[in-house]
Amino acid sequence: ISLSRAYHAKVLDHYNNPRNVGSLDKNDINVGTGLVGAPACGDVMKLQIKVDDNGVIQDVKFKTFGCGSAIASSSYVTELVRGMSLDEAGKIKNTVIAKELSLPPVKLHCSMLAEDAIKSAIKDYRAKRQTPTLGPNAVN
Ligand code: FES
Ligand code: FES
Repeated sequence: ISLSRAYHAKVLDHYNNPRNVGSLDKNDINVGTGLVGAPACGDVMKLQIKVDDNGVIQDVKFKTFGCGSAIASSSYVTELVRGMSLDEAGKIKNTVIAKELSLPPVKLHCSMLAEDAIKSAIKDYRAKRQTPTLGPNAVN
């Protein structure tokens, strides 16, 4: 059967040419890493943001082990958040992603994965920045 009958053209485009696939250094103090899973299907998404001193997302990378809609959702969200402030990015709703990609109801949780991933990356970044930097010999 034709794939295009099951998936909207925008999903196929992101699936065939995913944007910003890869990894950033998770030990970089400017990088936040989000790792989330979808209980419904077991798919996993890793999304990383690199934030500049003004709190603006300057780079984004993702790796998704999952269905076409999850890959398309993560690819789209990486394009969306680049250049956004953390506050803006943290407000992205999965419904915006689902609408852009015309996801059917059964695929809504795939876009939820992308919303969760960006939130998780922001949380990780903020937690990292709040932790006082300890010297290499600090016992804690
Ligand atoms: Fe199989 Fe998502 S449920 S890839
Ligand atoms: Fe589970 Fe798409 S089917 S993330």
